[in-house]
Amino acid sequence: MSGWIDRAVAQAAGLHPYIPGKPVETLLREKGLSHAIKLASNENPYGPAPKAIAAMQAAASEMHRYPDGDATALKAALADLHAVSREQILLGNGSNEVLELIIRTFAGAGDEVIYAQRGFIVYALATQAAGARGVAVAEADGLSHDLEGMLAAVNARTKVICLANPNNPTGTLHDNAALQAFLDRLPRDLIVIVDEAYYEFVADQLGDSLAQLSHPGLVISRTFSKAYGLAGCRVGYAVADAEIVALVNRFREPFNLNGLAQAAALAALDDRDWVMARVAETVAERERLESALDALGLLTGQSHGNFVLLHHADSAALHRQMEDGGIILRPLAPYGMADDLRVSVGLPAENDAFLARLEQFLAAQ
Ligand SMILES: Cc1ncc(COP(=O)(O)O)c(C=O)c1O
Repeated sequence: MSGWIDRAVAQAAGLHPYIPGKPVETLLREKGLSHAIKLASNENPYGPAPKAIAAMQAAASEMHRYPDGDATALKAALADLHAVSREQILLGNGSNEVLELIIRTFAGAGDEVIYAQRGFIVYALATQAAGARGVAVAEADGLSHDLEGMLAAVNARTKVICLANPNNPTGTLHDNAALQAFLDRLPRDLIVIVDEAYYEFVADQLGDSLAQLSHPGLVISRTFSKAYGLAGCRVGYAVADAEIVALVNRFREPFNLNGLAQAAALAALDDRDWVMARVAETVAERERLESALDALGLLTGQSHGNFVLLHHADSAALHRQMEDGGIILRPLAPYGMADDLRVSVGLPAENDAFLARLEQFLAAQ
């Protein structure tokens, strides 16, 4: 084989693919079931905001045209919402793309990217794909980011630090005062990604991070995939210094945000009351699930996202039992948490079905 193919093969051998939640159709096929409940990808079980559905229907007849490569209307709406300039908004095909673009722009061979060992796994994958070295800092208490440990890991090779607040999968949260104290001690020339994919679920508690946090290299990312119910559309964004955004945009594919996604996200922003009402229902259901798991002695820790974590010595058997009954959960072995399962908060009836199946499993033990 020629040299360039060998090089690509060697590079790809070190890349671990992201393992997504199992799709409903796959489980139905595997188990011969007619109905399944997916509690595996932290989606919004209530669906997209009604105005977003209407906007996608209206936009469908324009899909023979290329989308606006600059997503002018959506950028303007986000700039307005966050009281920043449109030059400070970076849009991506999901916040996943935003994270990858930022890491690829600022880190390469010989550079280091710091993240938590149980931080969102895409940071490690994007770092590997960029050819940089990932530095995974163990959690001080097994779950929360060890901010002191992350500070101690910074050296001259460090280019990017990534942390999720709240974090997936651990559900942990740092308040903005703690994060600002962390930012104040970091070198000014680092890129610091604060990934707020689950921001809407803690907005009341956390306050306005965009106004409260500051650092020259700060990049705050958000998504339409969770609270806004648009995971299938793939819309994420980041707010950062205009110079950072301009640099990252040079690596961006010209039409990375498709036309339906732009229409849906814009309309969803206009349906915030509906979105925040569903968020409130989700938080109430999360608390109900956490109380039930706590009563059973299975709760791993408190979560601040739209998911809960449970701990069981035979989590593999529990996972199988759930799938046999048509309930898809997320095993956390890729995070070194082999005894834990992540359960996304579903509709109340879906959560009931999960709890009933769990009790059945425990009773048969
Ligand atoms: C912490 C965190 N960040 C980013 C993402 C990526 O989401 P998306 O690409 O759908 O915006 C996820 C998805 O699960 C997440 O949990």
